Amino acid sequence: MKNIKHSWAEPYKIKMVELLKMTSPSQRKKAMKEAGFNTFLLKSEDVYIDLLTDSGTSAMSDRQWAGMMMGDEAYAGSRNFYHLEEVVKDVYGYKYLIPTHQGRGAENILSKILIKKGDIIPGNMYFTTTRLHQELAGGKFEDIIIDEAHDSENEFSFKGNVDIEKLEKLIKKHGASKIPYVSIATSVNMAGGQPISIKNLKEVRAVTKKHGIRIIHDMTRVAENAFFIQQKEKGFSNKSIKSIVKEICSYTDGATMSAKKDALVNIGGFLAVNDWDVFEEARNMVVVYEGLHTYGGLAGRDMEAMAIGIGESVSDEHIKARVGQVIYLGEKMIEYGVPIVKPIGGHGIFVDAKKFLPHIPQDLFPAQTLASEIYLDSGVRTMERGVVSAGRKANGDNYYPKLELVRFTIPRRVYTQAHMDVIAESAASVYERRNKIKGLKMVYEPKYLRFFQARFEQL
Ligand code: F0G
Repeated sequence: MKNIKHSWAEPYKIKMVELLKMTSPSQRKKAMKEAGFNTFLLKSEDVYIDLLTDSGTSAMSDRQWAGMMMGDEAYAGSRNFYHLEEVVKDVYGYKYLIPTHQGRGAENILSKILIKKGDIIPGNMYFTTTRLHQELAGGKFEDIIIDEAHDSENEFSFKGNVDIEKLEKLIKKHGASKIPYVSIATSVNMAGGQPISIKNLKEVRAVTKKHGIRIIHDMTRVAENAFFIQQKEKGFSNKSIKSIVKEICSYTDGATMSAKKDALVNIGGFLAVNDWDVFEEARNMVVVYEGLHTYGGLAGRDMEAMAIGIGESVSDEHIKARVGQVIYLGEKMIEYGVPIVKPIGGHGIFVDAKKFLPHIPQDLFPAQTLASEIYLDSGVRTMERGVVSAGRKANGDNYYPKLELVRFTIPRRVYTQAHMDVIAESAASVYERRNKIKGLKMVYEPKYLRFFQARFEQL
C-alpha cells in the first residue's frame, strides 16, 4: 500500500453557496467588447470563475461572520480595535498599529512619513501601488531582487530573495542617508508569488543594520511565504507557520498590510511599526487620510473580522490546503503544456504570455490579449501582469518588464477542485489555438495605474 497518495483537503465544510451565472460565447463576446478588452472592466455578474485577484475575495469563516455581529461601531476606542491590536502584536510581533482601509492606505501614510524627495527605495521587485506611493512621495524605486526572479523558467525555490550585492552597490552609490528603508515583500506578487528565505532576510537585516537603514515589510502574503519556508528551507520543516511568520516579522522594523489577502477579509489593512516616532506621525496622519487612529477607515465589525482572520490565516492546516489548491492547478497546467512561471507560487498561477503567444510583440500586449481570450473561452476572469500593469516611467516611456504574465489568482476558500479542472482545461484549449490569436491596440490610457481602466481594441 506504499503507493497511495495522501492528498491535502480543505479543513472546513461548506455552509452556504453563491449561485453563478453561466454565459454563452456570444454573451461573453459582447461583454468583453463592452469592457474594452480589459478584464477589470467586466461586470462580475458576467464572470463564471473569478480569478482576477485574491484580494478581498476570500470566503470568511462562520467565526468571522459571528465576529461581524460583535462590531462595536464607536467613532473612537472601539473594542474591536483593541482586539486587533492585541492580535497583531501576538501573531506578527509589531508594537504599534494603525488600521487603514486597505494596503495602499498604509503605503500612502508610510511613504509620506519616511520618504524625502530624491530618496531611493530598494525593494525585491515592485508592486504597482507600493511603487506609485513611493514615487508620489518623491522617491525612486530600485529593483534588488535576484536575477532568477525575472526568468519564468528558473526553478530556484526562493525567487523572492534579495541580491545582496545589488543592495550593497546601491548603498555605496547613493549613501545610506538617501535610503529611508528597504522594501521587502513576502511572497513577491509580481514575480509570481515567489517566497524570500529566512536566510536571505537575515542577510538583508545584517546589511541594513550596519548602515542604520530600516526594513519595511509588505506582509500582504506573509503566511503563504512561511509555508514555502516550512516546506523548502533547511531547518524549518518542524516549525509551525505561526512561528515562522513571527520570525519573518522579527527581522523587519515595520509593515504595510493588505489584509484583503492572507488575513481572509473582504476589506481592511494596516500599518504596523516598532518605532515610536514613526507611529506618532502615522497616528497623526491617518486622521487626515483614513479616519481616527482607532478605526482608520474601517467599521468596528471589519476590524473584528480581521482580528479573527489573522488567527485563522496562520494555521498549518489552512495554509496547506490554500497553497495545495494553487499547486494542484499549476501541475494540471504543466501537464497540458501551458507555459507557467515555475516554481508554482503561493496565490495563483502565472502564465507566461511571451511563451504562450511568441508571435505577439510586447507593444501589442500579449498578456492583456491572453486574459481576454481566456474569458472569451470559458468565462474565467484573469488579470494582466505585464507591460500594461508596469505603466510608464517619469519621462513617459513605457516600462517593458521581462515578465509578461497572466495571473490566475485563486481566492481563498472559495472554489473547488472541479473549478480548478475547468480553469486548466480552458487555458489548454486557448493554448491549442494560440497561433490564430492576434494582439490588441490601446485606445484609452489613464494617467495612474493604467491597467485598471485602460481600453483596447482587437487588431
Ligand atoms: N502589496 C501587495 C503585494 C499587493 O498585492 C497589494 C494588492 C497591495 C500591496 C495593495 O493593497 O489592494 O489592499 O490597497 N494587491 C491586489 C492584487 C490589488 O490583486 O494583487 P490594497
